[in-house]
Amino acid sequence: MEHHNHSEKPLDVVILAAGLGTRMKSRQAKVLHKLGGRPLIAHVCRTAATLKPHKIYIVVGHQAEEVQKAAAEVLSNDDAVFVTQAEQRGTGDAVMSARGDLHDASSTVLILSGDVPLVRVETLQALILKHQTENAAGTILSVRLENPTGYGRIIRDEDGSFVKIIEQTEASDEQRQIREVNAGIYCFEAQQLFAALERVRPANSQGEYYLTDVAEILRTEKQKVAVYHHHDAREVSGVNTRAELAEFENLLRRGTIRHLMLDEGVTFIDPSHAYISDEAQVGRDCVIHPDVHIEGKSIIGEACEIHQGSRISNSRLGNRVTVKDHCVILDSEIADDCAVGPFAHLRMNAKMEERAVVGNFVEVKKSRIGRGTKSMHLTYLGDATIGEETNIGAGTVTCNYDGKQKHQTVIEDHVKIGSDTMLVAPVRVGSGAVTAAGSVVTEDVPPNTLVAGVPAKVKKKLNEES
Ligand code: UD1
Ligand code: CA
Repeated sequence: MEHHNHSEKPLDVVILAAGLGTRMKSRQAKVLHKLGGRPLIAHVCRTAATLKPHKIYIVVGHQAEEVQKAAAEVLSNDDAVFVTQAEQRGTGDAVMSARGDLHDASSTVLILSGDVPLVRVETLQALILKHQTENAAGTILSVRLENPTGYGRIIRDEDGSFVKIIEQTEASDEQRQIREVNAGIYCFEAQQLFAALERVRPANSQGEYYLTDVAEILRTEKQKVAVYHHHDAREVSGVNTRAELAEFENLLRRGTIRHLMLDEGVTFIDPSHAYISDEAQVGRDCVIHPDVHIEGKSIIGEACEIHQGSRISNSRLGNRVTVKDHCVILDSEIADDCAVGPFAHLRMNAKMEERAVVGNFVEVKKSRIGRGTKSMHLTYLGDATIGEETNIGAGTVTCNYDGKQKHQTVIEDHVKIGSDTMLVAPVRVGSGAVTAAGSVVTEDVPPNTLVAGVPAKVKKKLNEES
C-alpha cells in the first residue's frame, strides 16, 4: 500500500474566535481581554505564526472588527484570512465558516481556540507529528483533569482505542466520571474534515453544531482518529472567567520573572510584585524594586536600577540608568548613565543622551535632552531640543502651545536657564546664554548673553570663557 506522507502537505491553521464568552460577564468579546498586556487572540496568533503555516484563518463574530484588528497586529497580511461567523451556532459551524477556502485543499488543518493563550509551539508540533506518524484523518489533543466538569470527555473502548467525544450536557453520569477531556485543539485532513462537518447535525441539548461530532463521524467511516495525550493541562486550558484570566496572568508573569532571574541575571527585590512583559528585555545585573511595571517591547540595558512604582512602556534604556521612584516613561529613549525621577514623566519620544539627568516632577514630551544636561525640579519640557551640559532651573516651562499650534524651543550647549523661566516658543537660546530667574523669553537669545525681565531683554554680553 502506498504510504501517504502527510509531512509533505501544507499546514493551515483555523482559530476559533467568534464567541462572546458569557462567563467573562463583559461587553467585550473574550478574546479581546488582555493577558500580559496583549489581547488573548494576539497570543494565539503569535504562536500559530511561529509554525509558519500556509494560512491562518481566524473565525470572527462578536466584535469582529476589533478582534480582526488585534489579530492583524501580530500577523502579516499575507498570512491572515478573516472569516465571519454571523451567528454563533457552535464550534462545528465556526469551522464551516472557513470552508470556502479550505474544503478542497490538500492541507492539514490545525484548529485552535482564541481563548487558549498559553499553548506552546512545541506542543502543537508534537500534536502535528503524532497526526502525521499515525496517518490519521483527525487527531485530538487530550488532557487529564481533576475536575473535568464542562469539558467534552474522551470515550474509549475496552482496549483503549478512541470511540468519540461526548459533551458534558450529553454525557451520562458514568461518562461524566471520565477525566480525560478534549482540550479543543485538533489536527484534521482538510477534505475529510469538511466532508464530515457536512454531516454534523445540531441534534443535541444545545441545538449547536459540535465540531467534536466530526471525530465520531470519521471513526464510523473507518477513518483513523488519533488522540495525542498532553501532560500539562494548564498550558492548553482556556480562559473562561476573570478569575482564570488573573491566574493565567500570574502564571505568565512568574514565568517571565523566573526566566529573567535564572537566565538573564536580573535581581528582583520582590519577584511577586514585579510586572514585566514577556516581550521586554532586561539586561544583566539590573535591579528591579517592587511594583515596577515594564511593558510592551521595552529594552533595558545592563546594570540599571529601577525603583519602586515606576512604569516603563515601549521604551529603551541604556546601561547604568537609574530610574528613581514613581516615574512614568512611555515611548522614550534614555542613554547610558542617565538618571530619572523621582516622579518624572517622559513621553512621546522623549530622548535623553548620555549622563543627562531629569529630576523631581519634571515632564519631558517629544524633546531631546543633550549629554550631561540637567533638569532637576518642577519643569515642563515639550517640543524642545536641548544641547549638552546645559542646566535647566527649577520651574522652567517651555510654553509650546499658543492655543492653536505647538512650537519648538531650542536651547543650545552650556546654557543656564534660571529658575522660573518661561520660554515662549518658537524660541532659541544660544550657546553659553543665561536667563535670569523669572525671565519670560519671547525672542531668541543670542549666544553668550544674559537676558532678564518680562519680556526678557539683553542685560549684558557674557565672557565666552565664563
Ligand atoms: C469545546 C468542546 C469541548 C472541549 C472544550 C475545551 C465543542 C462542542 N466542545 O467546548 O469538547 O472540551 O471546547 O475548551 O466543540 N466558537 C466560535 N463560534 C461558535 C462557538 C464557539 O467561534 O459558534 C469559539 C469560541 O469563541 C471559543 C471556541 O470556539 O474560542 C470554543 O468554544 P466554547 O463555546 O468555549 O466551547 P466549549 O463549550 O468550551
Ligand atoms: Ca471554552
